[in-house]
Amino acid sequence: MISDDRFMFHTFDNWLMHDDFTGNIISRNNIEQMQEQCKQRLENNVQLITADGSIDCVDAPDCQEEVVASLHFAEITTALSILADGGCFVVKMFTLFESSSVCQLFLLNCVFEEVHVFKPATSKRGNSEVYLVCIGYKKETQYLPELLQKMKENVECINILPLFPKSHLPTDFLLQHEICARLFMNLQIEAIESNIQAYEIKPTRRQVIYKQHLRTHTANEFYTRYKVSCIAEEDKILFSCPNTNENCKSKPFCKGSYSEREMAKETTMEERIFALHRTMNNLEKMLDLNYGMNFMKKAKFQVHQFQSFIFIVVLYLRNCLVAYLYIRL
Ligand SMILES: C[S@@+](CC[C@H](N)C(=O)[O-])C[C@H]1O[C@@H](n2cnc3c(N)ncnc32)[C@H](O)[C@@H]1O
Repeated sequence: MISDDRFMFHTFDNWLMHDDFTGNIISRNNIEQMQEQCKQRLENNVQLITADGSIDCVDAPDCQEEVVASLHFAEITTALSILADGGCFVVKMFTLFESSSVCQLFLLNCVFEEVHVFKPATSKRGNSEVYLVCIGYKKETQYLPELLQKMKENVECINILPLFPKSHLPTDFLLQHEICARLFMNLQIEAIESNIQAYEIKPTRRQVIYKQHLRTHTANEFYTRYKVSCIAEEDKILFSCPNTNENCKSKPFCKGSYSEREMAKETTMEERIFALHRTMNNLEKMLDLNYGMNFMKKAKFQVHQFQSFIFIVVLYLRNCLVAYLYIRL
């Protein structure tokens, strides 16, 4: 499942990959095997479960909640099957608008003493991820074993249906859910708007320096407040592997904004080359104009030199493109 994770290769004995060797949690067999392993290795005394599962939604960001619904369902089913009485569960979720999410939230509220929805400072402001912190598992809740059995039977269903009809959800729960979903939605909107604003307004040098100081100061404050320190070299799992970051370089990189990527999908290579050709022509015209105007104004020599260079590069690229198009078409 994780193609390039050296951390995993060095800690392989701590991973459960199940009989099918997939590590896939959306599988009744795999959940039951995990339950069995916890019984054997940990004597069923699991006090904390964290679930950080997600699926790459970079090409369908608007469907993230639907796409991950079955994974969340499997994570909750597994956690509730394994966790010991009184235990805690932390699960990452995204937006909470879909009926499946509302029902999952309601179920967690029924079987834990406390459920908190958090967006930690370390989670990017512009994304929708939130963490549900569930404290004090009530394993003996009435009808829970029957419900868990049904959940396991349905874990592989492609479409996760809501666990309960809306009429079964108490009004005060629905009200609290709405307040919570709106709060995080508004925080995300605010963050995205301020990101767009920051992107559009070119900051002055002074502002850049101020932001750098602010970032350093915030990071230092975070390290001090939460007692974050470096892991000693000998305690690092990958301490013997130099250049742990090297792998990051081979990761696929998403170029352009979401709209640009979508547009690129819908146009052919030829259409994109023609569009580029058009842009080059416009750039050439613009540079030509600026060059002429600047010459008239007797602008500084360096500026002329630089513009001449860009002018020649654009001309050269344009000619390469034209030549390529003649050959191809
Ligand atoms: C955000 S990453 C988790 C990162 C992890 N917490 C860490 O610190 O390395 C989400 C993970 O969910 C896993 N995942 C997605 N679908 C899964 C599935 N059906 N069963 C098990 N894991 C799954 C992905 O392979 C991915 O590694």
